[in-house]
Amino acid sequence: MEVFGLDIGGSGVKGAPVDVETGELKAKRKRLVTPQPATPEAVLETAAGLVRHFGWDGPVGCGFPAVIKAGVAQTAANVDASTVGFDFGGRLQATLGMPVWTVNDADAAGLAEVRWGAGRDVDGTVLMLTLGTGIGTALFTGGRLVPNTELGHIELRGMDAETYASAAARERENLSWRKFAGRFNEYLEAIERLLWPDRIIVGGGASKKADKLFPHLETRAEIFPAKLLNSAGIAGAALAATEAASTAPANS
Ligand code: BGC
Repeated sequence: MEVFGLDIGGSGVKGAPVDVETGELKAKRKRLVTPQPATPEAVLETAAGLVRHFGWDGPVGCGFPAVIKAGVAQTAANVDASTVGFDFGGRLQATLGMPVWTVNDADAAGLAEVRWGAGRDVDGTVLMLTLGTGIGTALFTGGRLVPNTELGHIELRGMDAETYASAAARERENLSWRKFAGRFNEYLEAIERLLWPDRIIVGGGASKKADKLFPHLETRAEIFPAKLLNSAGIAGAALAATEAASTAPANS
C-alpha cells in the first residue's frame, strides 16, 4: 500500500509517495522551500502544490513542526505565530479533497526509525532527535511513542536549547563540527540526566554528515545516526497516517 508522506519543516517542505510496508520512497522526493513568513496559509499552499505535483490521489500523512492535536497546531516555534490554533490537517484535507493525518514532524521521523531504521527491535527507551531549524524529539518505550514531546526547548545556558545546539545554530554561527559537537554534547548530557534513554538516534541533515559529528559525541546511551537519513520524516508521516487510519477517521 502507498501513502503520500509530507515532511514540513522550518526551511523545507518535502514529500514523496511511500510504500508503507517497507518505508521505501516510491518516487524521487521533491523539496520546496518553506515560504517566509511561514504563515499557515502559505505553508498550506506549498504543501498542497507539492502533493499535486505528483498527481497524487489517495491518503496523505503530514509531519508538521509543532505540537499537533487532532490536526491542529498548538505551538509555533519555527513557523509563523499565527499557526497556533490553525487546523492544518483539516485545511489540507479540504484543499486536497483527500484524507489527511497530521503528526509532529519529529514523531514522524522517530516512527520511521523505530519501524525500519536505527531504532528497530530496541526494547528499552529510544529517543530520536532531529537536528534542523529546531531540535525535534520523539520518545519511545517498548516501541510505543509518547507523542508531542518538546525536549528541544529545555533550557541550556539560559537559552532555549535549540537556539544553542540546532543545525541552524551551527550554520548561523558558522561553527566547526568539533565546536558544534561540544554544544550538542552539552545538550545530550542534559537530556540523559532527565530521561536515561538506552538508545539515541540523530536525524536531520546531521545524519548525512555522521562521519564529521559522531566521532566527537559522548553519551552514556548508544548513539546512532538515523538510518533513513533525510527520508525518515516523509516515510514516518506516511506510516503515522496508516497507523492512525486503522483506529480513527482522517484528521483526528
Ligand atoms: C518544535 C517541534 C518540532 C521541532 C523540529 C521545534 O521547534 O517546537 O514541534 O518537532 O522544532 O522541527
